[in-house]
Amino acid sequence: MPKVTFVQPDGSEETIDVPDGKPFMLAAQAGGIDGILGECGGQAMCATCHVYVDEGFLGKLPEMAEDEDVMLEDTACERLPNSRLSCQLSGGDELDGIVLRLPEEQL
Ligand code: FES
Repeated sequence: MPKVTFVQPDGSEETIDVPDGKPFMLAAQAGGIDGILGECGGQAMCATCHVYVDEGFLGKLPEMAEDEDVMLEDTACERLPNSRLSCQLSGGDELDGIVLRLPEEQL
């Protein structure tokens, strides 16, 4: 079960255990992490679960599908090379220790 750290724009951070295969967006909401809105429920249709992924883990993430790629063009904060939608991210021990930075805003 990976530990996932969410870093807020002010630098504060929280680490939660995410069951294998559970989307990080859902785990963040269940864990009371602020700043992950997830308005579409995880369908890659809202971009309100945008995160910036720790560069060292980019190659270990599930491949980006076209719908995620399209939605990332519509984020409230700038899309960067390490931008992903946290509803499309899940995994197991290979992602243990991953750090996800939240953007200043999601809407
Ligand atoms: S929850 Fe809507 S795109 Fe991730």
